[in-house]
Amino acid sequence: MRDRRYAHPFRDLRAKLREASSVCVLSGAGMSAESGIPTFRDAQTGLWANFDPMQLASEAGFRADPQRVWDWYQMRRDGVRQAAPHAGHVALARYAARHPGRLTILTQNVDDLHQRAAAQAGEGARIVALHGSILSDRWLDACPRDEDLMRRPCDPSRAEPGHPPRCPDCGNRLRPGVVWFGESLDYRDLTAAEEAASACDVMLVVGTSGTVWPAAGLAARARHAGAHVVILNTQASEIDDEAHIVLTGSAATLLPRLLDPL
Ligand code: APR
Repeated sequence: MRDRRYAHPFRDLRAKLREASSVCVLSGAGMSAESGIPTFRDAQTGLWANFDPMQLASEAGFRADPQRVWDWYQMRRDGVRQAAPHAGHVALARYAARHPGRLTILTQNVDDLHQRAAAQAGEGARIVALHGSILSDRWLDACPRDEDLMRRPCDPSRAEPGHPPRCPDCGNRLRPGVVWFGESLDYRDLTAAEEAASACDVMLVVGTSGTVWPAAGLAARARHAGAHVVILNTQASEIDDEAHIVLTGSAATLLPRLLDPL
């Protein structure tokens, strides 16, 4: 259960973040909300309040209506490209740049806001995109050339424009390079995330409902390995009980108060 000994949470947490040799962030859609990117489960505004995830975020949904899914992701991609990192992304990136190698960001988000903030602040953070990237594509099916040692596999960048684009050689369709419901995470990403969660002194869990596994389990993994777990969220989440302390508030407000200028 949560540890209620904190009389001065920010002072005590800042001391821990100052002393930590390894810090992990587990971020979710709430991390991007103040950049104008909708979350999934917030009432009214969340994507799943207005769209059926099984139709739009599953392989079966894509195969059933490729154009609808492709166009929905194009709309979301446009939103990501128009968004900008906010003060919370910048605070994390600057903390990482001041302490190279200390911060690992495990993000469930498929936007590139953490990556852009890191690039602007001068790198320093390791970022693991657990659910892939909405700005990348990959083939829907295995390329028939994968089995042919004499020929190079088809190149996604050569796909013919379309909804979705198709390979001019084998007809394969492109799909967004994200992890859909029912799909496994890349085992290298998950292994890296589990190792980082097990090794950190402090874990900041920012803007996630804690409803989707295995990402949601990383907070418990960190706690059981001895990390101090802090949740930053505007509302209660399904993993609040894994936290030593829950800070109620927004990512863009809380993260600068916690990290600047440690
Ligand atoms: N600051 C902090 N937290 C916020 C903010 C904010 N400004 N705005 C919303 N939140 C919180 C909400 O209270 C909620 O707990 O962010 C969380 C968003 O939860 P979800 O919409 O469920 O997003 P997430 O937890 O990332 O979902 C996990 O589910 O649909 C899949 O693949 C998708 O990666 C996603 C996964």
